[in-house]
Amino acid sequence: MGETDGPRIAVTRNGPYVVRGGLPIVRRTIVVDEDGESVSWQSGEELPVRESCTVCRCGASDTKPYCDGSHAVIGFDGAETASLEAYENAAVAIEGPRITLMDQVELCADARFCAAKGKAWHLVARDDDAARETVIAESNLCPAGRYTAVEPDGTVHEPALGMQMGLVEDPEAGVSGPLWVQGGVPVTSADGESYPVRNRVTLCRCGKSANKPFCDGTHIEAGFDDGAIRGTETTWW
Ligand code: FES
Repeated sequence: MGETDGPRIAVTRNGPYVVRGGLPIVRRTIVVDEDGESVSWQSGEELPVRESCTVCRCGASDTKPYCDGSHAVIGFDGAETASLEAYENAAVAIEGPRITLMDQVELCADARFCAAKGKAWHLVARDDDAARETVIAESNLCPAGRYTAVEPDGTVHEPALGMQMGLVEDPEAGVSGPLWVQGGVPVTSADGESYPVRNRVTLCRCGKSANKPFCDGTHIEAGFDDGAIRGTETTWW
């Protein structure tokens, strides 16, 4: 399979994401524990696989997750402001005695896995196995790939993820979240430039991110709802 045959995503200027290559689209919900802390993911409905489709990027479509042309009606400004720099260069290293936590803060999608069980950025300073394992686990749960855990010998921990687009739902925060693109699906800008191909990235679908096309967590403040939170989603998909 050539690079142009497989799943791929193209950002369009002030318009939707054009998704090609039969990328599966699946509902993914953040699960919390009794303290309300994000601890795992639950998979939900799988949409019928389409060879190509347009996925809403402005947040205004009545047929979410698909585009219905609303971006033109609302005058959506989808200007891309995100860096094209490789994660390895853009992220800062928080070094601990057992593990290093790499952090590119502007990619934060506010899914809050890193904030559970004592906060990964604090735990990394500890010199014990339990803290090390928690840092690795919480890094791997981060949908945006803001965090990655790296061993002292340079080995990078990454979860095994197949190519998929997740529709993030965050009931604890009462909102829908970004598009969780998994498995190294290439994303190109409206100018045809390539963003770093990564195992996990989150693309904004509320239209409000200041780091487009990536999510920056603003969907929480914006109260974004794709219909799944209030139960008003379209039923045809
Ligand atoms: S979906 Fe997160 S900022 Fe838009």
